[in-house]
Amino acid sequence: SDAFHHVPEIFKSRTPPYEKLINNLSKVQRILNNQPLTLAEKILYSHLVEPEEISGFHNVHDIRGKEYLKLNPDRVAMQDASAQMALLQFMTCGLPETAVPASIHCDHLIVGSEKGAESDLKASISTNQEVFDFLKSCGERYGIQFWGPGSGIIHQIVLENFSVPGLMMLGTDSHTPNAGGLGAIAIGVGGADAVDALTGTPWELKAPKILGVKLTGHLSGWVSPKDIITKLAGMLTVRGGTGFIVEYFGDGVESLSCTGMATICNMGAEIGATTSTFPMQDAHYRYLVSTNREPIAKAAESVNRNFKFLQADEGAEYDQIIELDLNTLEPSVNGPFTPDLSTPISKLAETTKENKWPETISAGLIGSCTNSSYQDMSRAASIIKQAEKAGLKPKIPFFVTPGSEQIRATIERDGLIDVFERNGAVVLANACGPCIGQWDRGKDFDKKETNVILTSFNRNFRARNDGNRNTMNFLTSPDIVTAMIYSGDMNFNPLTQSIKLENGQDFKFDPPVGEELPGKGFIPGRDRFYPELAPKPKADVPVSVSPKSERLQLLEPFKPWDGKELKATVILKVEGKCTTDHISAAGAWLKYKGHLENIAYNTLIGAQNKETGEVNTAYDLDGKPYQIPELMFKWKEEKRPWIVVAEHNYGEGSAREHAALQPRFLNGCIILVKSFARIHETNLKKQGMLPLVFENEADYDKIGSHDEITTKGLIEMVEKEGNNGGILVLQVKKPNGETFDIRCKHTMSKDQIGFFKAGSAINFIGQSKKL
Ligand code: F3S
Repeated sequence: SDAFHHVPEIFKSRTPPYEKLINNLSKVQRILNNQPLTLAEKILYSHLVEPEEISGFHNVHDIRGKEYLKLNPDRVAMQDASAQMALLQFMTCGLPETAVPASIHCDHLIVGSEKGAESDLKASISTNQEVFDFLKSCGERYGIQFWGPGSGIIHQIVLENFSVPGLMMLGTDSHTPNAGGLGAIAIGVGGADAVDALTGTPWELKAPKILGVKLTGHLSGWVSPKDIITKLAGMLTVRGGTGFIVEYFGDGVESLSCTGMATICNMGAEIGATTSTFPMQDAHYRYLVSTNREPIAKAAESVNRNFKFLQADEGAEYDQIIELDLNTLEPSVNGPFTPDLSTPISKLAETTKENKWPETISAGLIGSCTNSSYQDMSRAASIIKQAEKAGLKPKIPFFVTPGSEQIRATIERDGLIDVFERNGAVVLANACGPCIGQWDRGKDFDKKETNVILTSFNRNFRARNDGNRNTMNFLTSPDIVTAMIYSGDMNFNPLTQSIKLENGQDFKFDPPVGEELPGKGFIPGRDRFYPELAPKPKADVPVSVSPKSERLQLLEPFKPWDGKELKATVILKVEGKCTTDHISAAGAWLKYKGHLENIAYNTLIGAQNKETGEVNTAYDLDGKPYQIPELMFKWKEEKRPWIVVAEHNYGEGSAREHAALQPRFLNGCIILVKSFARIHETNLKKQGMLPLVFENEADYDKIGSHDEITTKGLIEMVEKEGNNGGILVLQVKKPNGETFDIRCKHTMSKDQIGFFKAGSAINFIGQSKKL
């Protein structure tokens, strides 16, 4: 143990348990006969609950993409929108505190407008007061750090405070992989998965395949880390990373800052990757020291020097390798409406004309969790200072979102906020704002108008920024956004073209320059934004949820299985595509994320009825039409359990757990389909539902609404504890009395049978923790 650098007490909760991890890893290495491992595998395997679990395997290729790993994450982070359901579920387990350190971040619910940070923050706190109060009280009760509204964006705060090389963490947000920029394995999950980690229950992950990205050359001039990931998104498309962890390596990594690596990992979510990560670099050490974590930097450096823990083994095999030469890279502009439509800046004018995109840009926005580092801000300010010196003024509105109070205060001290503001920028609150639709563009803004915005954000689906489906969001680096505000024109290439000044002279930008880290160090900023470092749980703190609330509702544990065969009626036969958006719509419904009953009024409103072709219409037994959720509420009231029958890839799209919670809450018991999207199938099992797949697809045609279904052999299946799947027979009784059997497949594991028996995974965890 002398090989480990021991950190003072105050840093312990933020340092991965390196000694234990190395111990675990060496057991795995022995089992695998010292086969070379990638960095991602080293971090994952070192977090196995039982390293012996993989003793049946002698080759990583037999594990990747095939086996499930049971893992013990080190930490959990939750953002305000998703934390509500995560914590409501955690509460039902009845535990006094969380099993691992955790943090809550109030960032998604804050609206940004031209009025600027102070006024926006005040208004958003007042609109969301009860949600923030609830989250704060949960934090105090269970010992979870509460980062209040205005303190910053979850991923920036995690990078500044919690991410460390070799850490494994879960976050209830899809851009959690941002922390991979500092060498962690950080994965975005739903609330029920977060509860696994919060309760110390092993968290299951199908071992991902590993996609190696080899970077050569080095970044210079206008090219920034953002251009690496926008280029990769163009090459790989939005599905190219699915089932993979992206691991970067090669000499080119050395020219990246830690925050630049975070930008790249952040947008790994846009290619569907499980997460992304980087081997330990000097840049990581520098970043840890400058964010006041020198002892942790030393511990990481020592564990890497002594055990080569934080880098891939020589000869490690990747499932796929992509090479990118940074010397030949050029800035890209990705969009509209999808992050993988990538156009190099030199082709932007031509592509704009070809596609008939509007040539005038309506606004430029920089910052967000993706691009609000000191380096990003100082480079953007260097562009503005050039323009200011030449007497140029921005042609379009310009917004800056600092990622955290620490960044905001530091760039204020160093005069950058002044540079932004005196040149017409609006500095928004340290929060998500326009990145997640929380952007008030003023009453004169036409929500239907086709218009182009340039942002340094990460996502650009329709309506994501301002609620307008016709706003075309092009994603690019903060450098390009900032230069483009001086032309307001998609035909302008700041790398090669000039702008005419009032005196008739031509002005051309020099490439931006910035500082990787502030020369004078970071300053924390205003105290009121900082929580206690390691809060102790306080059992006497009441968790505030008003029974009259429209936004929050305590969860009633779902009823355990009664030990009998299930008997239920088909309420709806769905036709065609049925994604999590069809099952639990987003948009205006987001405000009910903490109120299961209220949000359940959106259940399956996007689904198409196979028998009538209507959307959001189902029929009661007497033939009367209802909106789908209304009929579900009626049958719940009448204690009539129900089944939905559907086609292929049911529940595709996202890990949105409400799509499983709501049907369960409304008394659904079986979802019977031609095939499932895997994550949704798992989510249904976690909520105590029975997901079944037709053995013979043609049986879909034999079943109709109002058929009565009875399971045959469920009791036996439960007694056998699943055996990782099998066949379950359903007896179908048509309304005319005709009766026949069909065979269905299930994929329930032993644990998942446990969830079903207990009523849900949360009940199961609660029971086992109380034993
Ligand atoms: Fe927030 Fe946008 Fe990031 S919503 S967490 S700033 S992706």
